[in-house]
Amino acid sequence: MSKDKYETMGQQFGRRSWAEPWKVKMVEPIKMISQAERKKAAEEAGYNTFLLRSEDVYIDLLTDSGTSAMSDRQWAGIMLGDEAYAGSRNFYHLETAVQEYYGYQFIVPTHQGRGAEHLISQALIEEGDYIPGNMYFTTTRLHQELAGGTFVDVIIDEAHAPQDQHPFKGNVDLQKLQSLIDKVGADKIPYVSLAGTVNMAGGQPVSMANVRALRELCNQHGIRIYLDATRMYENAFFIQEREEGYAGKSIAQILKEFCSYTDGAWMSAKKDNLVNIGGWLAVNHEEVAEKARNMVVVYEGLHTYGGMAGRDMEALAIGIAEGVNDDQVAARVGQVRYLGDLLLAWNIPIVEPIGGHAIFLDAKRFYPHIPQDQFPAQTLAAELYMDSGVRSMERGIVSAGRDPETGGHRYPALELTRLTIPRRVYTQAHMDVVAESIKAIFDAREQTKGLEMVYEPEYLRFFQARFKKL
Ligand SMILES: Cc1ncc(COP(=O)(O)O)c(C=O)c1O
Repeated sequence: MSKDKYETMGQQFGRRSWAEPWKVKMVEPIKMISQAERKKAAEEAGYNTFLLRSEDVYIDLLTDSGTSAMSDRQWAGIMLGDEAYAGSRNFYHLETAVQEYYGYQFIVPTHQGRGAEHLISQALIEEGDYIPGNMYFTTTRLHQELAGGTFVDVIIDEAHAPQDQHPFKGNVDLQKLQSLIDKVGADKIPYVSLAGTVNMAGGQPVSMANVRALRELCNQHGIRIYLDATRMYENAFFIQEREEGYAGKSIAQILKEFCSYTDGAWMSAKKDNLVNIGGWLAVNHEEVAEKARNMVVVYEGLHTYGGMAGRDMEALAIGIAEGVNDDQVAARVGQVRYLGDLLLAWNIPIVEPIGGHAIFLDAKRFYPHIPQDQFPAQTLAAELYMDSGVRSMERGIVSAGRDPETGGHRYPALELTRLTIPRRVYTQAHMDVVAESIKAIFDAREQTKGLEMVYEPEYLRFFQARFKKL
């Protein structure tokens, strides 16, 4: 290569390069095992990346959940854990942080997001209720169903079209919501389940205009709105970047305004809040808080620890403030975009616009010859692992599960393989390795065959299902 061809990635994309707003103080060694070992490991794991041992994984993009690197301050906070059974000072720090940054009044800690989903679903849903939401999320919908409710998808149609460039593909379609209200009546709708960003749609955001309009519509019918705030920092970043009037506002300001249009939130703190374990439920209505506090002692622990150690609550309180920092969120989304832009430049089909936490490969276009009931996205995740030890996950027909009425597979429009980027963990060089591996399996796509499911658990089958090669 001639010398003038050496360009930084920024130069190649015609911009100035940027770097993460942190430096590395501690490292965790990783290594790649041989291809023969990876093939054996994949077969033993039933071609399900959830069943691999993490030691057999080179670059782990299974999830951004609980996989963040904590900061020196968070680790220092761990030493400040007050492990009293009741009234730990770390709980009060956590409570203040949620109140300050999210703006809600009553806080109940939980061991992770689904603990909070359980509490809110059991507190508010009655048998026969309907819960409209901007696309389902696996654990969220299951808790709504276990409480006797039926989830109804009211996201805009664009969210189901992987190449549609709508800037806010997470938006609620207010017409769809109105139709549901007209059909079943507002008293059968305990709340709207709003997620920002929408994980299953590719990490797509909800606009401020949309949540404001949603609030107005819900006010007319006396319906509450609860927010899945798991990746709201990233949602706020997209509002800052794309929505008129928000360029000059900080992520923290945008977050607080957005939350102010909702009645409460549940949180998987393992994402935006930069901790390895933890969650919380936060609400503005005293009677809901009381129900949640009553239940948390049954399922999680006392209402001042909810399944977390004092030290975990301290790291979480610190992580809430660190995670909302503008430079942090810009670097986080920037790294996701870096990987996505490479793949787009090589004509590899991904969900667009590139979302906040992950790149979603569009398995229907990647493997057009593999029918959906031969699990193209699951196949892609297995092939990627066998090629390079990169772990991703399926977000398609396996994740969608079975229809409780018919017992048949649900066939979601989106058949995706998710490469989720942990926060503050991998470098640009890791992203290059990932991109080249995807290119290699893309080049070999025509020879690739699908899978057959040979074991299917009853709940959330994507976690433990097993497959064999066709
Ligand atoms: C959008 C969303 N909601 C809820 C959850 C559930 O949280 P947890 O895994 O902490 O139980 C997750 C986790 O992946 C998520 O991505």
